[in-house]
Amino acid sequence: EQTTVAIVGAGPAGLLLARLLHNAGVDCVVLESRDRAYVERRQRAGILEQATVDALRAAGAGERLDREGIPHDGIELRFGGRSHRVDFPSLAGGRRVMVYAQTEVVKDLIALQLADGGPLLFDTEVREVTGADTERPVVRYVHEGRERSLSCSYVVGCDGFHGVVKQAIPEAVRSTYERVYPYSWLGALAEAPPVYDELIYAHSSRGFALASMRSPTVSRLYLQVPNGTDPAEWPDERIWDELDARFALDAEPGWKLERGPVTAKSVLPMRSHVTEPMRHGRVLLAGDAAHIVPPTGAKGLNLAAADVIVLARALAEWHSTGSTERLDAYSDTCLRRVWRAEHFSYFMTTTLHADPAQSAFDTRLQLAQLERVATSPHAAAELAENYTGLPIRS
Ligand code: FAD
Ligand code: DHB
Repeated sequence: EQTTVAIVGAGPAGLLLARLLHNAGVDCVVLESRDRAYVERRQRAGILEQATVDALRAAGAGERLDREGIPHDGIELRFGGRSHRVDFPSLAGGRRVMVYAQTEVVKDLIALQLADGGPLLFDTEVREVTGADTERPVVRYVHEGRERSLSCSYVVGCDGFHGVVKQAIPEAVRSTYERVYPYSWLGALAEAPPVYDELIYAHSSRGFALASMRSPTVSRLYLQVPNGTDPAEWPDERIWDELDARFALDAEPGWKLERGPVTAKSVLPMRSHVTEPMRHGRVLLAGDAAHIVPPTGAKGLNLAAADVIVLARALAEWHSTGSTERLDAYSDTCLRRVWRAEHFSYFMTTTLHADPAQSAFDTRLQLAQLERVATSPHAAAELAENYTGLPIRS
């Protein structure tokens, strides 16, 4: 079996890349270890940057997004018992973000790919990629219990943080940079209307909390919890009580979230990680396969989209002209933007969370930084520009 580009992983990175290549007339095959229902139901990110929305529209996946997505022009920061709104369009050159869940992005892209794209194989686990340094690398995978192989011109590892494709980059040329945080998030999905029409990010002495949404009737809520927390320790009432305590406002002592049944709970650890380079020979990495961020800045999915936008352009140029100039620059082009997002995600995370080891001095520094964002248009613009997403250059 053979193809032009083998894409490993049908998360947002692999699926969007497949679409962009299809539109550019480049053949590809997508191999995904899980089944379709699992991939479509995995609860993850919820915020799309303007550039991600534009790319989805250009890829032909904008119809439901434009109908059901909820545009947001700002976020609310809560700290020290007060609230402060950061307005995006006025601070970030007119940019805004869209609330549209990763589950929906993935469903839309899968439907398009199955309707008129190249092969998208579920229940297909890639075991190994060999020949990164040759003209024709080979992907070895298992489908329907049988071992098979796919020979191609390029392999793209869109196989997430635990993916196998990065192992095709020899250890001698691969570097990793990492930070693990001393707290996790408890994520809850609730049948309750969002309390407010924008997201609320809260700093409190009890820890971080975030109120997001999925629709006018479904809320998505996050609480900082200790690493190793079992979601069973958090019955619904405890979640709501803790959210109310962390979002408390001095000026509105009775302020409370509207409650409803919690339909899903999970705990996610927080990590920053970058693997460099993002390309070796004919093997390329994109999205979480190359880098992850703690979710506080809402960057993970958007970084994955940015990588494949750059990569699709580079592969299309190689396909139509034979030039590898953009492919040669791919890793450097992406890593500049990746490291900026790594810094922003680290900044949002460490400014808003309570590190169990932090001193009263550290807490005062966090509050001074948040106060700066609340009072200086320059500091607020820095946050707004990063949150709404920096330009994608390629
Ligand atoms: P993924 O979505 O991880 O997709 C990788 C795909 O590759 C998966 O479908 C996987 O099954 C497949 N795969 C793996 N190995 C193989 C193999 N050997 N063979 C074939 N297929 C394989 N970001 C936010 O901004 N906000 C959030 O709230 C948020 N929550 C998150 C919660 C969790 C639990 C996780 C893991 C991530 C979260 N993120 C969040 C980050 C965001 O979801 C990711 O950045 C985004 O999914 C990256 O997309 P991707 O396509 O690169 O990787
Ligand atoms: C969501 C997740 C985030 O990490 C974030 O910063 C904002 C929103 C969400 O799932 O809605």
